[in-house]
Amino acid sequence: MESIYKEQLLDHYKNPRNYGKMMNPHIHKEDSNPLCGDVIEIFVRIKDDKVDSVSFEGKGCVISQATASILTDELKGKTILEIQSLEREDILDLIGVNLTPSRVKCAMLPLITIKKGIIEHNSK
Ligand code: FES
Repeated sequence: MESIYKEQLLDHYKNPRNYGKMMNPHIHKEDSNPLCGDVIEIFVRIKDDKVDSVSFEGKGCVISQATASILTDELKGKTILEIQSLEREDILDLIGVNLTPSRVKCAMLPLITIKKGIIEHNSK
């Protein structure tokens, strides 16, 4: 079972979904993993309090970049509150592979980035 998920991760890494910059996003945040310096930049447009469109750019390991691709697919149509309530377990369920603690940090980078972006957006 797990090898299917590994293939899925590699596919998302090689062919990232929702990749690229966005003009005039409502939420825009770049963050990095302090352990390695890998970067994720997320762009979100909101309509009726739901994610209307979302994209990302980044550089880094397979886990961080593939998770960003998978997560951005998942975020479409979600409300800000729903995104804020996503947790580590939700991300691990999404990617479906067992990770070492340092690799969990890679997988969490995209969600952490968007949550920081939401906090900034809400404080405007
Ligand atoms: Fe840098 Fe994974 S090694 S985010």
